[in-house]
Amino acid sequence: MKFDFDIPTDRHNTDSIKWNKYSTEILPLWIADMDFKVAPCIQEALNQRINLGTFGYTQAPQGFKEQIAQYLFEQYQWQVDPEWVVVLPSVISGLHTATRQFMQVGQSCLVPKPVYQHLRLAVTQAQQELIEIPMVLSHNRWVLPWLELNQYVKKNTKLMHFCNPQNPGGTVFTLKELTTLAEFVIENNLLICSDEIHAGLVLDKTAKHIPIASLNADISQRTVTLMSLNKTFNFPGMGLAWAVTENHQMRKAMQTDLHATIAEPSLLGYICTQAAMKHGEPWRLALIEYLRENLKKIDAFIRKNNQISQSNIQATYLSWLDLSKLQLNDVEDLFLKNGLALSPGSQFGSPAFMRLNFGTSAKNVSEGLNRLDHVLKSRK
Ligand SMILES: Cc1ncc(COP(=O)(O)O)c(C=O)c1O
Repeated sequence: MKFDFDIPTDRHNTDSIKWNKYSTEILPLWIADMDFKVAPCIQEALNQRINLGTFGYTQAPQGFKEQIAQYLFEQYQWQVDPEWVVVLPSVISGLHTATRQFMQVGQSCLVPKPVYQHLRLAVTQAQQELIEIPMVLSHNRWVLPWLELNQYVKKNTKLMHFCNPQNPGGTVFTLKELTTLAEFVIENNLLICSDEIHAGLVLDKTAKHIPIASLNADISQRTVTLMSLNKTFNFPGMGLAWAVTENHQMRKAMQTDLHATIAEPSLLGYICTQAAMKHGEPWRLALIEYLRENLKKIDAFIRKNNQISQSNIQATYLSWLDLSKLQLNDVEDLFLKNGLALSPGSQFGSPAFMRLNFGTSAKNVSEGLNRLDHVLKSRK
């Protein structure tokens, strides 16, 4: 079956956060959802369920955790016991729960910088100590400073938040890098919360997503892995994610707030996730091809412009544009004046950067690059 990602979708008047925030002249390439319709298999499953007309309190469909375990094995050769899975409504709630449950008052948490803001907010909102580890550019990839990790650990450090594939920056961490990180975590007696929501969006043909918990039993016992298919299959409004942890106590902790301060996962989230796992792979593969072409176009644009640069985006649909050469104070505003809404790098901890979401039609990407060109020309 062919999938046409060029078909325009009009997301105005759909209560979309992305498309409602700015006036209609502004092209919104900011928050991380894609402008594509979901895979036909997901649409059909939703239609069927909606047509039943009954939407009462819902439990996980029978065999749901087994299905997740099988999916993780197929995709990542990761052997997970279905019992290790805790179903959650979102990865964000998983990040906040892990922080609040695994840390005691007066402890600190390591967080890479830049990073998706909720890894950081989970710590600061829990009023715990945040220790940021600045990422470094090595061979055109944003990575952790492997040889210097120990210098960031304090006596009170308990937890590390990690994002793989990395948002922003698009790094897919290698087996060697993950092994180094796992050794560091074990040696320092830490726990790790690994946000792997972008695992299904690896674009680099030479890279492969490896869940850090899959490396060995020692690291598996110290890790909670957070995942959802909502990014890859573009249903983040539907409310379903999961945590995997082999450690019984950590698993219990991840369940603490469920059905209390954290809402139950949504019925439609189960429907989308099941359909994606069962029938979504051809759509995912076609999506990856399409995103690769969008990224190629952006990289070609950047190669022609010495005012701007970008590292190797190995995964995600998020460009990470280094605009430091422009020496701008209010980057976001300048882009908006040129009709382009991007995510300001300050949101992730790097004010001289902007993040551009290329999970949209090739036409929108070209238009976005035209507008970016205007910005750059206005600075020459
Ligand atoms: C790394 C990362 N984690 C979590 C999320 C949000 O996940 P959820 O919508 O499941 O809360 C995002 C959304 O952009 C993300 O990029």
